[in-house]
Amino acid sequence: MTTQSRSRLDAPRLSVKGLAKTYETKKGAVPVIADLTFDVAAAEIVCIVGPSGIGKTTLLKCLTGLQSITAGRAEIDGHPIDGPPEEMALVFQEYTRSLMPWLTVEKNVRLPLKHLRLPKREQEERISSALAAVGLAGAEQKYPWQLSGGMQQRVAIARAIAYRPEVLIMDEPFASVDAQTRFELEDLCLRIREQFGMTIVVVTHDIDEAVYLSDRVVVLGERPARVTRVLEIDFGGPRDQITTRSIPEFAELRTEILELIRKAG
Ligand SMILES: Nc1ncnc2c1ncn2[C@@H]1O[C@H](COP(=O)(O)OP(=O)(O)O)[C@@H](O)[C@H]1O
Ligand SMILES: [Mg+2]
Repeated sequence: MTTQSRSRLDAPRLSVKGLAKTYETKKGAVPVIADLTFDVAAAEIVCIVGPSGIGKTTLLKCLTGLQSITAGRAEIDGHPIDGPPEEMALVFQEYTRSLMPWLTVEKNVRLPLKHLRLPKREQEERISSALAAVGLAGAEQKYPWQLSGGMQQRVAIARAIAYRPEVLIMDEPFASVDAQTRFELEDLCLRIREQFGMTIVVVTHDIDEAVYLSDRVVVLGERPARVTRVLEIDFGGPRDQITTRSIPEFAELRTEILELIRKAG
């Protein structure tokens, strides 16, 4: 760990401390998360990876205050999270359920901005630049059901970006888009982190994506879940889809994470 990232982590933006989650079901208690501890610094990009069903979505729901925590804590800037914090935005895994079907694309993106009481001009500017950034300029007046799954997910991403949260949390956000769009959306993440100092947490099952995007990767394993490893990723310069992915260290990190997930699964 570099001195810089260590000092940034002294006052983390997000902090998960001994977090545990057990679902109470009709058939009894189902422990999903045993004990998770990790921090996310301001303006850091952290990816969370782990086998399917390990509890990644559960963790994000606890982190965003949408779901109760059984033990331990989740904090934002040192304050316990007990409901959805205003400075956070979440992009759900189930994109089909995240847009309002009776609202146009433009109105869906506008929805959370209404609370910000922005000047009209800035509101319009944020909506059009967010839609352009996800490649949906021109789709403003369409309804979600007129769009493909990947396009709907891009609307959900545009809505989160236009809101400009301090912390952006996304659950497998690019799973339903084609490879080229996925690359563009990954680069968009890097750009908005640069531009707005946004802190970004992404759950992904794409190991290459985790390595490409992250400052650190948190690997989950065991059932109920624990943190198996936290890997620091520093390629020593700006990232580029072609050159970064072809350096030997990239392949080494991919292999290391893949092995950890195989063992965990
Ligand atoms: N509301 C719920 N009630 C009971 N069990 C749940 C609930 N939500 C998720 N689970 C269970 O918790 C485990 C982890 O689910 P999830 O967090 O969706 O995993 P992941 O996102 O890593 O695939 C799964 O076994 C799932 O069936
Ligand atoms: Mg999930």
